[in-house]
Amino acid sequence: MKSSEEGMAGNKTSVIVFVILGFSHRPDMKVFFFILFLCIYIITVLGNLIILLVTNMDPALHTPMYFFLRNLSFLEICYTSVTLPRVMVNLLSSDTSISFAGCAAQMYFFLLFGATECCLLAAMAYDRYRAICNPLHYMDIMNKKVCMQLAASSWICGNLVALGHTTFIFSLPFCGSNVINHFFCEIQPVLMLVCGNTYWNELQIILAAAFVILMPFLLILVSYGLIISSILKIRSAKGRYKAFSTCSSHLTVVTIFYGTAVFIYIRPKSSYYLDVDKVLSLFYSVVTPILNPIIYSLRNREVKGALSKMRTKLFHPNS
Ligand SMILES: *[C@@H]1O[C@H](CO)[C@@H](O)[C@H](O)[C@H]1NC(C)=O
Repeated sequence: MKSSEEGMAGNKTSVIVFVILGFSHRPDMKVFFFILFLCIYIITVLGNLIILLVTNMDPALHTPMYFFLRNLSFLEICYTSVTLPRVMVNLLSSDTSISFAGCAAQMYFFLLFGATECCLLAAMAYDRYRAICNPLHYMDIMNKKVCMQLAASSWICGNLVALGHTTFIFSLPFCGSNVINHFFCEIQPVLMLVCGNTYWNELQIILAAAFVILMPFLLILVSYGLIISSILKIRSAKGRYKAFSTCSSHLTVVTIFYGTAVFIYIRPKSSYYLDVDKVLSLFYSVVTPILNPIIYSLRNREVKGALSKMRTKLFHPNS
């Protein structure tokens, strides 16, 4: 793709493969990180699979909230699968190169799942808003069709964002170094390899990212503003607590997800060179997927109930 420009561009050599730097400067830590990432990956996939299974099997959990939670768990499995397996392979192999197309594909899927999650969290906030502010018509408003449409729109939005960003970045001219100082093809480290001054590119990407992250975030804020004002109107403390407890898991996930997103994307590039930072940013991309099932299964009484029902069925089938 890029190599056709060779020859015409003089001393600019076009990049056809990238090399992922990862942990190559710390060979002594490779085994440690391999085992760590393997554990994180297994826990993430298993935890989210359990949520998928439990909410699917228990008819009491066939509500809009759990429809979105299933979608979210599915998304988290995909999200971690884009980065961690490849990072682990790179830890064990001496050849850490990735093709131009492979790098673009990785970035596309990473952004697709990330942006879809932003939108899905907003859809879940809307669902909570409807459940708490319109309890009598909740099931009519959030019928199956509406839920499907909300989830589908999240995927379409995520897809547009990912497609836009990836095409934009990979149509920029790459020259010189092809070494990605990161664990996978993330926006910032790839952008550093673009020829010339990338100030405007970076600005555009930060603005677009801010838009993508902030729009759903505003929707979430508005939903929770309405939720809180409606909860405050409830007379009994018990009723208030009950209403709030149905959204506390979602609120926790939102806080962690947006906290980490802001940490990764909305900050100056100069802070990016630190190695500690590189490791941190990897952890930040696995933090929500691994915590999600834990939050929803520990803090949510309905999921806990469904889990223990499933355990009873599995281990004492005749009782
Ligand atoms: C997530 O939502 C989409 C769009 O409505 C749907 O097609 C898909 O089956 C859902 N996935 C899960 C795991 O529920």
